[in-house]
Parts: sequence; structure tokens; C-alpha cells
Amino acid sequence: MAGLCEGRVVVVTGAGRGLGRAHALAFAAEGAKVVVNDLGVGLDGLPGPESPAAQVVREIEEQGGEAVAHGGDIATPQGADSLVEAALDAFGRLDTLVNNAGFLRDRMLVNLDEDDWDAVMRVHLKGHFLPLRAAAAWWRAQAKAGRPAAARVVNTSSGAGLLGSVGQGNYSAAKAGILGLTLVAAAEMGRYGVQVNAIAPAARTRMTERTFAQTMAAPEDGGFDAMAPENVSPLVVWLGADASAGVTGRVFETEGGRITVMEGWRPGPTADRGTRRTPAEAGETTLELLASAEPPLPAYGSGPARG
Ligand SMILES: NC(=O)c1ccc[n+]([C@@H]2O[C@H](COP(=O)([O-])OP(=O)(O)OC[C@H]3O[C@@H](n4cnc5c(N)ncnc54)[C@H](O)[C@@H]3O)[C@@H](O)[C@H]2O)c1
Repeated sequence: MAGLCEGRVVVVTGAGRGLGRAHALAFAAEGAKVVVNDLGVGLDGLPGPESPAAQVVREIEEQGGEAVAHGGDIATPQGADSLVEAALDAFGRLDTLVNNAGFLRDRMLVNLDEDDWDAVMRVHLKGHFLPLRAAAAWWRAQAKAGRPAAARVVNTSSGAGLLGSVGQGNYSAAKAGILGLTLVAAAEMGRYGVQVNAIAPAARTRMTERTFAQTMAAPEDGGFDAMAPENVSPLVVWLGADASAGVTGRVFETEGGRITVMEGWRPGPTADRGTRRTPAEAGETTLELLASAEPPLPAYGSGPARG
């Protein structure tokens, strides 16, 4: 049976380990040719011993698939541009970009250094924008030359970006920024055949296995391992395939066997009296509106966990 991504060329950033590795293997299993990007950095973004991308390429080849490694930093223009060039050089085209690479520098806001702010904003937010821009330029050129692609982008946000997460001000801001970028890219790129969606995953990787050791642990009885990163990849592969035609500008939470469509900001209770209010009147109206508004979901780490 033909795979869901037969003939497609897929780039996955940060695919040397964790979720990105699982996505790369899952795309290859559905027939895609894969560019496996990874800079091979530590959990905090500092240089690591070597890029694990080559190892994932070997795993894909052992399964009979085709893949090449790319070891560039996706948060630099050279790294992002050469990533798209790697797909074109090796396989002659690009169909899907999965933005996934990133790292954490967790601190309470009062202790958060400017460096920790910049590094996390850079790798997640710029690290999504630059590969997206490089891929979009190629897809626009293809469309203008009369060869529109069924192009797909899957961005990686987080529950921290959707609700906020205590101790992760930098990460939450970057991941919320990725949601805004996703909506704009979907609106701008649709005319060139490009669909852009985002996921907020949860899985056991080096990023989460210590902080959330208990919730992330594999069951000892051999039952369904809900927090395995491989559970997130099926949605990513479908969003990255031709089969998801018509789905764009959407955000999905996904973990274990669950997929949730996240419904974004929309107007709640509102009052327009057609004239300016005094501050005291503004307060009175706001309290009335809040009384009939949905209470917000708590930020992660600040209240009861969401079921
Ligand atoms: N694991 C979770 O539960 C979870 C939850 C929400 C969001 N996420 C997001 O999922 C993505 C993957 O995370 P993970 O848990 O698999 O982490 P991970 O640390 O296992 O993998 C991330 C990979 O990105 C690579 N990388 C980092 N900076 C890079 C750069 N500049 N250029 C190229 N590669 C780079 C690292 O070397 C690493 O291999 C991240 O964006 C993360 O924020 C993960």
C-alpha cells in the first residue's frame, strides 16, 4: 500500500532526538524523503558533542527509506537557507517543513537573565521564522512558475504558549509568538498552495523526562505508553501530507491517544455605550462583563492541572 507521503520531501528541524526524531522516522515510514536537521546542542542550547542527525539518517536507511543530514543552526539565515537548499540538492523539491528544534532556559521572571530571554526567543521564534521564510520563497517561486505545490508547514508551539507556564516566561512568550506567526503565515501563503498549522505536544523527551518524571514515565506493565514521542507524530505526518488539504491556520494539542482542536481568542462579553467612560465607569463595566465571562484556564504550575 502506498504511504501517505509517497514522493514528498520533508524537512524536520531538531530531528536528531526526541519529537523531531520520531516525526522524521514516521514521515519516512509513510514514503517521504527526509532532511534530518539537528545542531546537536545540549538541553540549554550550549554546544553538544556532535549532531545526532546522522544517526537518525542511518535508522531511516536501515528501514529502507531515504534521508540526508543537515547540521546547521536553524536560527541563522545561513542555517535556514542551507536547510532548504539541502532538500533541493538531495531530492530536487520541498513539500513539507516541520519546525520543531528548540531548547529551554527556565527561570522565574525576576531571575531571568537577558541572555536566557534572547537565546530562547531566538531558537524558537526566529528558528521558526527563518526556515519558514526560506521555504516560502521557494514555494512562491514554484507557484509563479506554474508549478504550485501542496506545501505544508507544521509549527511546534506548547501548552506553555497557549496558557502560560510558571518559570517559563521566555519559552511561553516564544511559543505564543509561534501561534501568531502560524496564523499570519496561513493567511499569507494560502494563495501559493501552502498550509500552515501548529501543534502543542506533550511527550517524554530529555526536555521533560526529569521535570515531569512521574507523568512522563512509561508504564511498567507494558500497557499503552501514552507519553512516547511517537504518539505525537501521526498528526504531524497527516498535517504534512497532501491528505490534509483544506486544513490551515489551526492549532492542535496532541499527546498519547488524544488530539484536541484548540479554539483561539474570540470575543466574550462586550459592552459599547457609544461614548467615552471615566476610569471608574470603565472599572464598573469591566467587573460586570467579567462576572458573565468564562473564567480563564490556569497557567501551568499555578493551579489545578487541566484534565
Ligand atoms: N517534550 C514535550 O513534552 C514538549 C512539549 C511542548 C513543546 N515541545 C516542543 O517540541 C520541540 C521538540 O522538543 P523535544 O522535547 O523533542 O526536545 P529535544 O531536546 O529532545 O529535541 C530538540 C532538538 O533540537 C535540537 N536543536 C536545538 N537548537 C537547535 C538549532 N538552533 N538548530 C538545529 N537544531 C537545534 C537539539 O539538538 C535537539 O536534538 C521543541 O520545540 C519543544 O519546545 C515539547
